[in-house]
Amino acid sequence: MRALVKPHAGPGLELREVPEPQVGPGEVKIRVLRAGLCGTDLHLEQWDDWAASMVRPPMTLGHEFYGEIVDIADDVVTAHGSGNLQVGQRCSVEGHVVCGMCRNCRAGRRHMCLHTSSVGVNRDGAFADHVVVPATNVWVQPDDIDPELGALFDPFGNATHTALQFPMVGEDVLITGAGPIGVMAAAIARHAGARHVVVTDLSDFRLGLASGAGATRVVNVGRESLSDVQRELGMTEGFDLGMEMSGAPAAMKAMIDNCNFGAKISMLGLPKEGFPVDWGTVITHMLTIKGIYGREMFETWYHMTFMLQTSAALRDAVRSVITHRVGLEQWPEAWAAARSGECGKVVLEIAD
Ligand SMILES: NC(=O)c1ccc[n+]([C@@H]2O[C@H](COP(=O)([O-])OP(=O)(O)OC[C@H]3O[C@@H](n4cnc5c(N)ncnc54)[C@H](O)[C@@H]3O)[C@@H](O)[C@H]2O)c1
Ligand SMILES: [Zn+2]
Ligand SMILES: [Zn+2]
Repeated sequence: MRALVKPHAGPGLELREVPEPQVGPGEVKIRVLRAGLCGTDLHLEQWDDWAASMVRPPMTLGHEFYGEIVDIADDVVTAHGSGNLQVGQRCSVEGHVVCGMCRNCRAGRRHMCLHTSSVGVNRDGAFADHVVVPATNVWVQPDDIDPELGALFDPFGNATHTALQFPMVGEDVLITGAGPIGVMAAAIARHAGARHVVVTDLSDFRLGLASGAGATRVVNVGRESLSDVQRELGMTEGFDLGMEMSGAPAAMKAMIDNCNFGAKISMLGLPKEGFPVDWGTVITHMLTIKGIYGREMFETWYHMTFMLQTSAALRDAVRSVITHRVGLEQWPEAWAAARSGECGKVVLEIAD
């Protein structure tokens, strides 16, 4: 089969023929239809220090995907109680493989597992015709979630996990960063009943995507100030909820400066390194700041599928984050599009 592989330590990838993987105990084999690129895949291709510390080549990349179950290990039903899995079902996959034995895993908080490994980073991933994953990571999708939407469930899950931390009905929401995840978070905020959904970025292209997905006001912070925008919107006390989705220290400062007393801020964006925070304001304004990682297994997945099933508008808004569709054979075009910054989500079309 074809697989897009990090062949050895160093920059670059190679599309090569490799043997089809076979299921081991507790595993499921999936024929991949669509797979999304994420920032992680850019780091892995270019081979920075983080990539060098995470990956032992040769490794097939790809962790955001949708496909069809083609084989299930004999022990799966009894070992995991996943008797509902059947060959022929369509599914998305949670890319974090957890240990099942640490305290958080045993308490049902698998997204906080101490020993997580990742599909497409620590084990072969989905930029290939087939991928093998633990049966417990499979999320069977109903027919009304098509392959493209299904391939978005990893980043859509980051957006959902962050957006649903705090009730949104009637709240004013600030989202910093209009990458694919910030754009989808804007769509969820509208779906979940927020009043103003203000999204910031430095890229007009990306702010355009946020407008299309449901932001009520977008702000290029290179040109406009959030305090002016608050005045324009008739807001007098600051944002009630914040979602930090850029990883930029300046965005976090803007967030803290523009929130109401008692505001709740969920932080998903990963800063490159530590940075100073005005803790005096956090304390005296009694802000709640919560870090968010991955998706809740599997509560976030129920929320995603069920929200999409009830709203054609949300399905359209989430899908609108896809700006590029590229065949697996043309994979360098996908990386070039993703690196250009003039993009939302880039999806590899692997099979139909
Ligand atoms: N915590 C997790 O589990 C998790 C999972 C996936 C991604 N992430 C992180 O979440 C963030 C969003 O992911 P993405 O794929 O949408 O990323 P992305 O890098 O595509 O988007 C980030 C956006 O932030 C914008 N930005 C930069 N400086 C800004 C500023 N000062 N104000 C406002 N916007 C600014 C950039 O122009 C860019 O459009 C990234 O930091 C990513 O590393 C975290
Ligand atoms: Zn990802
Ligand atoms: Zn664990």
